[in-house]
Amino acid sequence: MTSPHIVREIERRRTFAIISHPDAGKTTITEKLLLYGGAIQQAGSVTAREGMRHTTSDWMSIEQQRGISISSSALTFEYEGRHINLLDTPGHQDFSEDTYRTLTAADSALMVLDAARGVQAQTEKLFAVCRNRGIPILTFINKMDRPAVDPFELIEQVESTLGITAIPLTWPIGDGPDFKGVYDLQSKQVLVFERTARGKQRAPVQVAGLRDPELRQLVGPDLAAKLIQDVELIEGAMGEFDQNAFLKGELTPVFFGSAMNNFGVEHFLSRFVELAPPPGPVETNLGERDPEAPFAGFIFKLQANMSKAHRDRTAYMRVMSGHFERGMDVTHTRTGRKLRLSQAHTLFAQDREKVDDAYPGDIVGLVNPGVFQIGDVISLDGKLQLPSFPRFTPETFATISLRDVGKRKAFMKGLTQLTEEGVVQVFYPTDGARDPYLGAVGPLQFEVFQARLLEEYNVEVEMHVTSYELVRWLAGDTASVARFARHVEDDQGRPVMLFRSPYDLDYTQTQHPEIEFLPLPKDL
Ligand code: G4P
Repeated sequence: MTSPHIVREIERRRTFAIISHPDAGKTTITEKLLLYGGAIQQAGSVTAREGMRHTTSDWMSIEQQRGISISSSALTFEYEGRHINLLDTPGHQDFSEDTYRTLTAADSALMVLDAARGVQAQTEKLFAVCRNRGIPILTFINKMDRPAVDPFELIEQVESTLGITAIPLTWPIGDGPDFKGVYDLQSKQVLVFERTARGKQRAPVQVAGLRDPELRQLVGPDLAAKLIQDVELIEGAMGEFDQNAFLKGELTPVFFGSAMNNFGVEHFLSRFVELAPPPGPVETNLGERDPEAPFAGFIFKLQANMSKAHRDRTAYMRVMSGHFERGMDVTHTRTGRKLRLSQAHTLFAQDREKVDDAYPGDIVGLVNPGVFQIGDVISLDGKLQLPSFPRFTPETFATISLRDVGKRKAFMKGLTQLTEEGVVQVFYPTDGARDPYLGAVGPLQFEVFQARLLEEYNVEVEMHVTSYELVRWLAGDTASVARFARHVEDDQGRPVMLFRSPYDLDYTQTQHPEIEFLPLPKDL
């Protein structure tokens, strides 16, 4: 029987990630969530972040400025008795596989939109990943203190672009310089916005009802009249919030606010802990794994050289069931090896803190002596596996060549470790050419790869983006497809072809109907 303690710990866990287009305010919201979660006393602007390396986590920049200890992969805080794990999804211009994989460890997601920009390209892609996983998504429309798109239009845009029902739980009163606050459609109270000195303190909130004569005074007669009209329209024309549809990922509750000014964030957080689900069952080869079952966890992210002081590799594990205890003996399903998890830590960047206990939904960093791969499962019973772990299909390809051939060994080590992490995918030409191709979802991944090779492995490389833009895996072994020029192999030795355009792909297929292309690996 599961101990009541474990049941309670599972029940109070909330593990989520923030998805947004760069600049929408993810870092600012994170900082404010920490402020309200009591992890920091005073939040400030995050200007020093500029000029930091892309690969450096946003958390680390906050940490450097605030001197607080936060994990570089999950940030943990308590709020109203809940234990919240906020996963770090890198906020690059480009996405990397890393971002997608991190989302496999989340039980819900917060989608942050810029009120002036609405749904942007990267939001759409990340949303699709969450949607495919069927996880519940909450929406925060940020920067209401700036001139914003009409809120009805924003709601409509979320629904039409993303294909999800959007139900506002709060409603903005004015925008830009006239932003006066939000109306909570459930408690039927107005939260009045007061500008603080760049949101350095927790913003005080005054409250009034919709029919209060005080409302006209607080927000002015025009905005009060407009609010009453808007609310009538919402209550008459929009559906009700439905918790089940939300949990199925079919409906998103929408909140409005201004993270920079601390406005709306605490209200969001207090609703989030009620709405967002605790860890649920995970699909495995042995059926659904209940979080109350004995200990099991899966690896969703690998990272090399986390800190200069500790040059090693870390595997991030999400606990999917049971109670994790440091020093416990587990079995690594893929290799059948027995492992003792003595080197577990959670909070580390400059310093590490040992983690003694963890529960479903928690993220634990394990020292990885090269044993772990993404998607690996460790458990007490030893037979558990995940059905498949997603790989993202690259859309841009570069050739890479070593400047100093004497560095070949370090280069190969860097290439192996960084591809393991999912920074890039590597393809080796089979036509005798020495230089491998790298594949990525976005070109920034190449820059990150190049910078990390130099900084962490002291290897300088030249890279040239090619005109290839499509990749297909071929049925059959390498020998049977050897007659096709232009084919390469992936890091598992599977034959692959690269194409310059969909036309190129079609043409090849028409010319060689005998080639059998495998279905693409399923994106999350
Ligand atoms: P990101 O992590 O999603 O990329 O966004 P980030 O929080 O870094 O915010 C991007 C910019 O938007 C920052 O300005 C930030 O201050 C600003 N911002 C965030 N929330 C709000 C808001 O509610 N209202 C307004 N007006 N601005 C907001 P920056 O100029 O790039 O940096 P900084 O100098 O302000 O730190």
